[in-house]
Amino acid sequence: MQEKELKKYEEIGNWNFSDIQYIIEQESCWDFYKEISKYSKKNSLLLDLGTGGGEKVLSLMPEVGMIIATDFSPKMIETANINKKNYPNKNIKFVIMDNLNMKFPNNLFDIVTARHTIIDAVQIYNCLSNNGILILEGVDKYDCWELKKLFNRGQAFKDSISISKKDYNAIKEAGFSKVHFEKITQYEYYKTKNDLLALLIKTPILNNFSGLNVFSKNQIEKDLFDAYVSTHTTKKGIELKRVLYGIVAQK
Ligand SMILES: C[S@@+](CC[C@H](N)C(=O)[O-])C[C@H]1O[C@@H](n2cnc3c(N)ncnc32)[C@H](O)[C@@H]1O
Repeated sequence: MQEKELKKYEEIGNWNFSDIQYIIEQESCWDFYKEISKYSKKNSLLLDLGTGGGEKVLSLMPEVGMIIATDFSPKMIETANINKKNYPNKNIKFVIMDNLNMKFPNNLFDIVTARHTIIDAVQIYNCLSNNGILILEGVDKYDCWELKKLFNRGQAFKDSISISKKDYNAIKEAGFSKVHFEKITQYEYYKTKNDLLALLIKTPILNNFSGLNVFSKNQIEKDLFDAYVSTHTTKKGIELKRVLYGIVAQK
């Protein structure tokens, strides 16, 4: 169990970014939810791993037979069950479960999805039915790279092998027959400094980043943040280059 991560997600308690003002310009046409739609049938049994507060699975998942959505954070699952009340017709069950210690029988699910969360390829392989599909989107080492370089830290900053490569290799080694990899580049433009700050406080992009320190106690962090903002401010907003990856694999 990743105790530090769990504590952080318990404190956050949701994965809702609707209060942050930003626009997205997509360079790649690969889209996680469109991929899921391609493989979904009216009677599919779908498992969504690391579902957060259910914000995306409730609003963006296509109609299928049933969705089981899991997260290791009880607080996230509590939020998801509250959010579920706004989707009375969605056939979905939220369950507390660790992605690294999954408790499902073998050959159960038609589709397993995982967006921006840790996975264990072997456990996913085992719980998928024959010909079942895994669809995942991950955040790569070079995501927000200019920002990470400036702070000399951040998510996967010092990894010798990128997360995308690790996931790809693990999925191949687990025994999946067809594995398709897609690099995803997108530009996000944050309306104000406070919008970007809110993103950085909530997400693990820069590890241990505290907005309060930026503005009061920690002058070095404030200077680094201001330097990034001044060099990346454009007419559209403060630019953040996102580098993600998508994988579709068949058992
Ligand atoms: C970045 S959020 C993504 C949430 C959601 N998938 C989305 O795309 O909006 C990552 C989520 O994964 C969960 N998570 C992280 N490690 C996990 C693990 N080992 N087992 C289950 N959930 C985990 C966190 O609690 C958090 O809710």
